[in-house]
Formats: sequence, structure tokens, C-alpha cells
Amino acid sequence: MLDAQATAAPAVIRREDYRPPDWLVPDIALDFRLDSMRTRVASRLQVVRNGDHDRPLVLDGDGLTPVALRIDGVATDWRLDGDALVVPLPGGAHVVEVEVDIAPELNTQLMGLYASGGLLCTQCEAEGFRRITFFPDRPDVLSRYSVRMEADKARYPVLLANGDPVAAGDAGDGRHWAEWRDPFPKPCYLFALVAGDLVANRDSFTTLSGRKVDLGIWVRAADLSKTDHAMTALKLSMAWDEAVYGREYDLDVFNIVAVADFNFGAMENKGLNIFNSRYILADPDTATDADYDAVAGVVAHEYFHNWSGNRVTCRDWFQLSLKEGFTVFRDQQFSADQGSAAVKRIEDVRTLRAAQFPEDSGPLAHPIRPESYMEISNFYTATIYNKGAEVIRMMHAILGPERFRAATDLYFARHDGEAATCEDFVVAMEDGGGADLTQFRRWYSQAGTPRVVATLDHEGTTARLTLEQAVPATPGQPDKQPMVLPLRTRLFCGETSGPLCDERLILLTEPRQTFVFDDIATRPVLSINRGFSAPVTVETGRDAADLAFLSAHDDDPFARYEAMQQLMLDTLVAAVAEGRGDHGAVIEAVRNTLSDPALDKAFVGEAVLLPSEAFVGEQMLVVDPDAIHRAREALRTDLGKALEGEWRAAHAGAQANRFEYSPAAKGARRLKTVALGYIAAAGAADAAELAHAQFTGADNMTDRQGALTTLVNGDSALREAALEAFYRRYRDNALVLDKWFTTQALSTRDDALDAVLALEKHPDFTLANPNRVRALAGAFTANQRGFHAADGRGYGFLVDIIVALDRINPQTAAKLVPPLGRWRRFDEARATLMRAALGRIVETPGLSKDVFEQASKSLG
Ligand code: PHE
Ligand code: ZN
Repeated sequence: MLDAQATAAPAVIRREDYRPPDWLVPDIALDFRLDSMRTRVASRLQVVRNGDHDRPLVLDGDGLTPVALRIDGVATDWRLDGDALVVPLPGGAHVVEVEVDIAPELNTQLMGLYASGGLLCTQCEAEGFRRITFFPDRPDVLSRYSVRMEADKARYPVLLANGDPVAAGDAGDGRHWAEWRDPFPKPCYLFALVAGDLVANRDSFTTLSGRKVDLGIWVRAADLSKTDHAMTALKLSMAWDEAVYGREYDLDVFNIVAVADFNFGAMENKGLNIFNSRYILADPDTATDADYDAVAGVVAHEYFHNWSGNRVTCRDWFQLSLKEGFTVFRDQQFSADQGSAAVKRIEDVRTLRAAQFPEDSGPLAHPIRPESYMEISNFYTATIYNKGAEVIRMMHAILGPERFRAATDLYFARHDGEAATCEDFVVAMEDGGGADLTQFRRWYSQAGTPRVVATLDHEGTTARLTLEQAVPATPGQPDKQPMVLPLRTRLFCGETSGPLCDERLILLTEPRQTFVFDDIATRPVLSINRGFSAPVTVETGRDAADLAFLSAHDDDPFARYEAMQQLMLDTLVAAVAEGRGDHGAVIEAVRNTLSDPALDKAFVGEAVLLPSEAFVGEQMLVVDPDAIHRAREALRTDLGKALEGEWRAAHAGAQANRFEYSPAAKGARRLKTVALGYIAAAGAADAAELAHAQFTGADNMTDRQGALTTLVNGDSALREAALEAFYRRYRDNALVLDKWFTTQALSTRDDALDAVLALEKHPDFTLANPNRVRALAGAFTANQRGFHAADGRGYGFLVDIIVALDRINPQTAAKLVPPLGRWRRFDEARATLMRAALGRIVETPGLSKDVFEQASKSLG
């Protein structure tokens, strides 16, 4: 019995098996008697038979046992089929009442109703509602919710749920109650409640049509001073969605709650967003500029879901990218509008390349609309989110902004109040935007990153650009069809540094096509995939001189950045192959960028950064982590030495600035720390003192953490002192302590692995908090050389964490598995160790289906 359970592979859910629900639940009333050890949940469902059938009502549950079941007011015997409650019903409409008891305090999975730092909160997406009560837990069952909560008044003075508050009162015995009602029918994954001792940053927003909305950001009293930035971002988001998409908020209140223990970033529950506190709390002393940007981006993302996700939701979980890809695209547009659009695009592409490209080329590759899954939590991936956003961006590029807006208007109007599909979205793009997207639909069904090879020929006054595309095979998809690739393209004159033509949007649709440019009198230099208009790799064969030229003269800032990155990559890949590289071209290109007064500092800070070791590895058939590390450090050292004067000027130039949160000030801080890193890489005698001075003199976390990183990567006597000082200053602030762990996990030193093994034993390391796990173990997997240490101790460390964490939090454990799945890209010795590590995971008795799915597919 036990054995059968341990070895039976979890069931596979398939998209093609979708059937509409047998029963609908137009209304639900929930009554919570809240207690951290025993919460009584009483639910009252109005159920209606959907279609002509005689199947029973099947209510999903997860670990629940009914305390009572009543049908139309009559107590009834109940029957469980596995975890589900099966209720035979004679008629077309009934009232079903169920009571269950749950224990939030013992809920370590952080799915359903759980306790975090003394408060009670919920997380239901994707399938957590079934851990709270029996229900048809699928997104195409939409219900109107009314929620009553009763709790101890001292421990839980604040009671929040979805929608608008309707009544509250005293319940006697030191208890109180509150009732909330949400007029908008919603799937149960958007249900939420929070009970706790919280205070609010309150504000209001008046919508387009003049309705006043009360806003509240709820946190522990000590954190109240760190909520202003999130509130500003919320109001900006509300105004932006009205201006850019015509979307107005629809309830009288909008609340956000920050919690310390959370599996993801944040959750868009209707009218009651629940956030990982790292995406709410920010002040100059504890949050970096990147943190500030992330807070604004995630606040916007969750707010935008009110339309793209909530008003129009998903029919089933295979359609996840319908809401996530679209909403990521929307939050990217929002962030681009707030500051430097160019830098934002660079960051988004860097994220895509770091997280999605490896996924798309490995054993876990899947299309943005997957065909099957064992555990849906494993499909909240960079592919669904970030590649999904790129697919929307391509439709935006093909239609142009006006027709795209007409198409989204049509989409929202047509599907408001419905559970829709990706196909519905594409049809709305076609009907509202006036385009034929038949072939474009392949982006929804084919996995893998398309590869384009570009060849530019020039003869007389004609330039011919020949483009060939291929999509690599991925698991289950050996043969691929050509895609529609929108490639923004322009030709430049390498001699006069002027453009030779206007920018063209080339649509590559065939395996091989030639595009002709007339009136090109001089030798052209190719600028292609400008703005990263298609999520593909492009091989252009441009030489160092042309890349250096574009890095200085291209009028598209992304293309400029890209040319520099390509030059750096070519240099590093050659150096890895030959042991020693020619650094001259990179040094000159970086010198030009540093000395160009027209460039904004944030852009310069990005452009002069070398590609990560992992990204260099992605370019190689067999990754040699040590050789890549050596090559990259050597280039850093040479850049540092050759341009030491420039780096010192850049560092000193930003020295005296007082903290201010503005694009210009952020850019100055960015460049300052990048420069500091190069001064240290040069081996300058005073580098550690400079870093230490920045560390102790900093009036903000960006400068402080930047300096700490420089010290941690070095071996000066000031290293330990800085780590110790940072720890003592912030030991009571979990979010900042996470940075202390991460900075050491990402160290470029030889002893990074030993340090990580020691930190695992540190009293502040815990598996109970997902942020802390990610801060150490998650971050370390990005340290290519440390994690891939030849003796396999890095793999062993990760497996131990995954197996131990799986017992308490399978979702977060499963997210740590993918780095081991890259084994095909490593030498035989490492590949063998990685496969053995995956094998150890798969053979662990009692493994969750979350981790089983990821580990078994990774062995693939
Ligand atoms: N839907 C959330 C978002 O992207 C992510 C999430 C998924 C949060 C599952 C919690 C659980 O905004
Ligand atoms: Zn989302």
C-alpha cells in the first residue's frame, strides 16, 4: 500500500481533455471562525446543474474531512473519493452546506489558509482553495462571494476579505466579526482573507468617471514607514491603466497586505492583493534601487490583473499565459513609462535570457500554452510569464499601438466576466486589430527559442539581407514549423556613422527569405532585432569593428547595448577556447561609451557590464565553468586597468550625491558601483578602502550593498568587518538579511561553495521562509563556478535542501530543481554527478508531485 503510493507516478492533466464543469456555483457564502490551531469553515453553495447529464457534484478537497454536510438544509451522509467529496444530487439546483476544520498554524506549504508572523492569510492560486473548503476548484467556475469572519479581537483586530466591507460588530467573549461582499463573480483562486494586527497606509484615488476608491496598504506597525513607495506606485498604476488601456477600477476599496512568508512574489486576489513583503516594503536604508523598481513593477502587475486576470480570467490552467504574459507585458510598459525605457528593456531582456532561454533549451521546455502537466504550480515559469509577455509584445509590434489598443478594448468588452482562452485573445487581436495571425499562433504551441542566421550582401547600390530561421527540437516536439518573427531592422553606414535607410519592420515567415534594400551606396552595417522585437537569437557574423561601431553609433539604445554585449561575448568565447583573449576592441568600445556625454548614466552602467558567466556558458556547447570564470575575470581586470582613470572619475563623480529617488540619481548610483567593481578588478591598492568608505558613508542601501559586494568578492582585511557590520546592523530585518546571504552566495571567490555550506548552518538560515531559501540556495545556483564545483558538493548541497524542504513546502522546493536539469550542457563528469543528484531526488520516498515532476523530467 505504502509502496504503491510512493512509486505510482502522479496523473498527467492534458489540455485536450478539457470539459466544461458539470455544476456551476453562482453564489457562495463562507463563514470563518478563525483560530490559528482550529479554524471552522462553513460554506453554503448554490449549485446549478450545467447541461444535460446525471453526474454527481464533485467537490475538490485537499486533506479535508467534512464535519457536516447538508443538502437543501437536510443533514446527509458523505462519501470521499480520494480527496474529493462526491455529492449525488437529484435536481437542477440545490443548496449544499459543508463544514470543515483546518489548522492554519500547521500549514507549512503556504497554500490555503496559513499563519505568517502572527497573522492569518490565504493563498489560493492555483489550487489552494481546496485546502480551505470543498469546492469545484477550477477557474471556469465563477461565483459571487459573501464572507463572514469571526476572530479574537486582540490577536486579529483587522479582518479583510475580497470586495467591499458590508458590516462588522462585536461577537462577545473578546471576539468580533466582519462581513465582506464581492459583487464580481470570480473563480475561487482569487478568494482571499486576512486577519491580524495590522496598520494601514491609507490614501484614495478618484477614477476616470469620478468614483473615489479607498486605498490601504496593510503591514505590521513597525513597517508602516516603508509603504509610501508602494502607495505611490499603486496610484500611478491606476492612472496609467486608465490612460493607456482605458481600464478603470471597479470596487470602492482596494487593499494590499504584506506578509513575510510567501511562495511567490504577490497575488492579485480581487480587491485584496497579498504580497511577499519584499515587494512592498522600501526605504532608502533597507531597499536598493532595484528593490524600489521591483516594488513598483509588482504593485503595477497585481493591480493590472484586476482586468487582465480577474474581470477576464482563464478557462483552465493551460491558459495561464493569457493573464500572466499579458500582465507582464503591461507592467513592463508601465515601468518603461516611469523612467528610462531603454534601460528597462535591457533589464527585461537580461531576465529573459537568464531565466527563459535556458528553460527553453532544456528538458523542462514547454510552449507558453502547455499541453500537459502533473502539478500546475510548476508552470508558473519564465516561459509562461516572460516569453508570454514577448509574444504579446510582438503582436503589439505587428499591429502598432492604435490597432493593438482597439484589439484589447474588444478583448475586454467581449470577455468581461468570462473565463477565456489564449485563442480568444488572438481572435480579439485579429478582429479588433485587423490582422491575420494564423501562422503567428505557432508561438502558442511551439517551444524552443528560434535561431536566426542573417547574411548581408552588398553590390552596387543594393543590399540583400538573407534570413534563415530554425526552431530547435524540444521535448515532445522534434519537428518545428517556421514562426512569424517581427524584426526591426536598419542599415548604417560604417564610414559616416549615419543611417542608410529608415527602420523597417521585417516579418520573417519562411525558413529562408531575402529582403532587398535599394539606394545603399556604401557598405552597410546591419542593425537587427532592434529593441529585441522578437525573442530569438540572431547570428550576424558581424566583426569586432562593426560591433564596436554600432555600440557607439546605433540610434536604437537597445541595439547599442546589444552590439556591446555581442562584442564582449565574442571576446570571451574566443578567450575560453584559446586560453587568452584579445581585449583591445572591448576596451576601446567601453572607453567610448564611458566618455560619451550624451548617454545617460543608467544606460552606461548597463552597457559596460560584462555578460554573466552563465550567459557566456549558454553560448557554448559544453560549459567549462572554470575557464569561463578565468576568462571573464581576466577581461574585467584588463578593463579595470586600462580604464582606471575613467572608472575613478565615474566613481568620484557620483560620490557626494545625497539620496534621491529619481532616474538620474539611480543612474548615477548604478554607474558608481559598477565603476567601483572595475577599480577593484584592476587590483588597485586603495580599492578596498574606497569600497569600505562607500560602505560606511552610504546613506542608502544601493551604495551600501554595492560596496559590500565589492568587498565580499575581494580578500582585504575589511571584508570580514563589513560583513559583520552589515549583519549586526540588519539582523532583525529579514529582507535585508536575505541580501547578506545572497551577496555571499554570489561571491566570485574560490571559497564561495565553502561559505555557502557554512551559511546553511547559520542560525538565521531556515527552510520555513521561502525568501531565505531563495536568498541562499536559489541565488547560489546562479553562481555558475561555485555551484558547478567539479567535486559535486554544490549539487549535494542543493539536493539536501530540496529533499528537506519538500517535506514542508513542495512548491518552493520544486523551483530549486531546474538548475540540475542543465546536465546535458556540461562535461561528462559533471553531467554524471548532476544526474546522480536528480536520481537521489527522484528516489526519495514520499516525494511530492511538485518535485517529482521537475526532477523526473529533468533526468529526461
Ligand atoms: N498570480 C500571481 C502573479 O503573477 C503569481 C502567483 C501564483 C502567486 C501562484 C501565488 C501563487 O501575479
Ligand atoms: Zn501575474
